[in-house]
Amino acid sequence: TYEKVWLIGAMVLIVGFIVTITYGSVGLGIAMVDDSEETIEPSELDEDERFADPRVEQVGENEYEAYVVAQTFIFQPDPIEVPSGSEVTFYVTSPDVIHSFSIVGTNVNTMVIPGEVATMTVEFDEAGEYGVVCNEYCGSGHHTMEGELHVV
Ligand code: CUA
Repeated sequence: TYEKVWLIGAMVLIVGFIVTITYGSVGLGIAMVDDSEETIEPSELDEDERFADPRVEQVGENEYEAYVVAQTFIFQPDPIEVPSGSEVTFYVTSPDVIHSFSIVGTNVNTMVIPGEVATMTVEFDEAGEYGVVCNEYCGSGHHTMEGELHVV
């Protein structure tokens, strides 16, 4: 019936909008896929196997997980190294004060709040070197808080 056709048409439009919004964030070969948060006690970071040893881990053919700690006034690991053509889910937390995890020249820019794990999935299509900076004032060394992200 015509009603069914309209219904399906409307569904296609809605899905189209969602896809557009999701992939509208593409910039410099980097696309943000997901953005969510979980909680963690700052005092338990050392005991959390993900953050006790900040690193990038391969979890699938082209899938990686990066456990990043932002703290006064460094990012760990540094540099963060990921292969091009990969999808990387970042888990970022802070043991001390509020920082941000921002990849220069991209729209990756998330607040890093003690007690919370900022999570985002990013696609890296092209090789390149990016600066990682903190955009939240976090103390006297805030302006020196920099790291590097290498897409190799
Ligand atoms: Cu860390 Cu500003």
